[in-house]
Amino acid sequence: MQKVTKAIIPAAGLGTRMLPISHAVPKEMLPIVDLPAVYYLVEEAVKSGIEDILIITNRDKDAMEDFFDLSVEYGDVLAAKGKTEELERLREIANMANVYFLRQRETRGLGHAVGRAKEFVGENPFTVLYGDDIIFSQTPVTRQLMDVYEQYGKPVVGVKPVPKEDLRRYCSLKVAPVDEKSGLYFCDDMIEKPKPSEEFSNLSILGRVLLSPEVFDLIDGLKPGAGGEIQLTDAMAMLARKSGVYALDFEGRRFDLGSKLGFLMANVERGLVHPETGDAFRAYLKEMAKTL
Ligand code: UTP
Repeated sequence: MQKVTKAIIPAAGLGTRMLPISHAVPKEMLPIVDLPAVYYLVEEAVKSGIEDILIITNRDKDAMEDFFDLSVEYGDVLAAKGKTEELERLREIANMANVYFLRQRETRGLGHAVGRAKEFVGENPFTVLYGDDIIFSQTPVTRQLMDVYEQYGKPVVGVKPVPKEDLRRYCSLKVAPVDEKSGLYFCDDMIEKPKPSEEFSNLSILGRVLLSPEVFDLIDGLKPGAGGEIQLTDAMAMLARKSGVYALDFEGRRFDLGSKLGFLMANVERGLVHPETGDAFRAYLKEMAKTL
């Protein structure tokens, strides 16, 4: 079985749900306490054993590239001020993994963004971490998917049950249970943004998939789907119908960083465990809660 060593992070979306801020600051660079959202995705990939990461960006998102780079001048200033710990942390971030960047050029949808990574991926299976979805878990979710792939040798998608009224914003999978205890299903069809009569189940893909390179030819042949965009789900549906994919109801709490509420919730979550803010923030929240 081929080892999974590559990950793609599509982060070229327009971020209209995070306007006005996303007009000037990429939503992936908005802070969760003191780290940008995209950091958590790279960290998850690295902790899962991924070595090479390609972030798909656009012309307004250079700040992401700067974040994973080292500024010599800034480093010199920190060193002169004796801020050696802080400097060491920046060096650690710059050396976390091989992080590459590629511009999508045209914002034509998630499927189109992933399709740009064909050359980077080559003949290997690879994972995709959707740029909006931060998941806090015991075992990194990408690792959870890789474990299923290593056992079954087929593409794996990360899923969660979604309230019925939200399904039309996500996708819906046709599944049969493989192992209910570990939340593993076999999926032989799926649909993006289903209308009420088109739903298969309440399981929806939320933010993580592990795919085989044959998906690139399928993406190349796609016509615009839901919302007029090239939809990754449409290519994965073809994979599912052809030979099936696995669907894992992963362990972890997912935050939609493309939405204002998800962004606030992720900050509360991390603020409570951050060594510099945890105690004071907890005390503040307790007082605040009394007034709600
Ligand atoms: P979304 O549709 O949730 O993100 O795409 P968006 O388009 O930025 O958000 P809104 O709806 O306008 O607020 C899911 C993921 O796919 C990436 C996004 O960056 C996000 O991480 N994406 C989407 C691309 O990389 N390219 C695209 O053309 C579209």
